[in-house]
Amino acid sequence: MDSSDAEAEPPSLGVVRSARADDGPTLHRIDVATFAEDVSPAVPPQPGADFFGGRVRPEDVLVAEVNGAVAGYLAVGPHYPLASSAHVVQIRGLAVTPEHQGKGVGRRLVGEAVEVARGRGARRLTLHVLASNETARRLYGSCGFVVEGVQREQFHLGGRYVDDILLALDLTTLRTPQARGDL
Ligand SMILES: CC(C)(COP(=O)(O)OP(=O)(O)OC[C@H]1O[C@@H](n2cnc3c(N)ncnc32)[C@H](O)[C@@H]1OP(=O)(O)O)[C@@H](O)C(=O)NCCC(=O)NCCS
Repeated sequence: MDSSDAEAEPPSLGVVRSARADDGPTLHRIDVATFAEDVSPAVPPQPGADFFGGRVRPEDVLVAEVNGAVAGYLAVGPHYPLASSAHVVQIRGLAVTPEHQGKGVGRRLVGEAVEVARGRGARRLTLHVLASNETARRLYGSCGFVVEGVQREQFHLGGRYVDDILLALDLTTLRTPQARGDL
């Protein structure tokens, strides 16, 4: 090791933690900042909406922090609310603030979601992604998700029909996706 290595700044270690109820406004702002027709078929997030007002509970949300600031989140839940499908966990939301994108936050959150799903006894981790969301598709593909189904022209967005893609990760055979470097 030379002297420049010894003096180098330590990497910024991000953390992933469970959400708290008081993260709601921050997570809503991330939804607003990342919403676009090519990444979500939903209506745009409404001003002042309660992030935890619907089916999303704080205990189902992972929050990534970088240098003490919330950089992104990932929400999970059952794919179906049925005991017969309790072994399938679904990623129901993933977003990283524009200023933190491209730095490994999304990959880290997906890796943590794998651990959460395994902790819940899941055999499969699933999600839906729009065909137009090429960034997210690349992320999931590099984490080992495979296409299990395509619903053709399921949404009409921005004047064109867009496919809805069902992706899944087999947790019974998988090694945890590695975060590439620190956040
Ligand atoms: C999709 C999203 C969560 C990715 O988060 P991120 O923190 O930027 O992703 P990472 O930095 O961890 O990158 C992981 C991989 O995603 C892909 N990726 C990330 N940014 C990309 C870009 N601008 N162009 C193409 N691929 C990209 C790459 O495969 C990358 O792996 P690599 O760095 O080894 O090449 C983020 O772009 C986002 O919040 N988008 C808007 C909301 C959204 O689309 N959510 C997903 C809904 S299903």
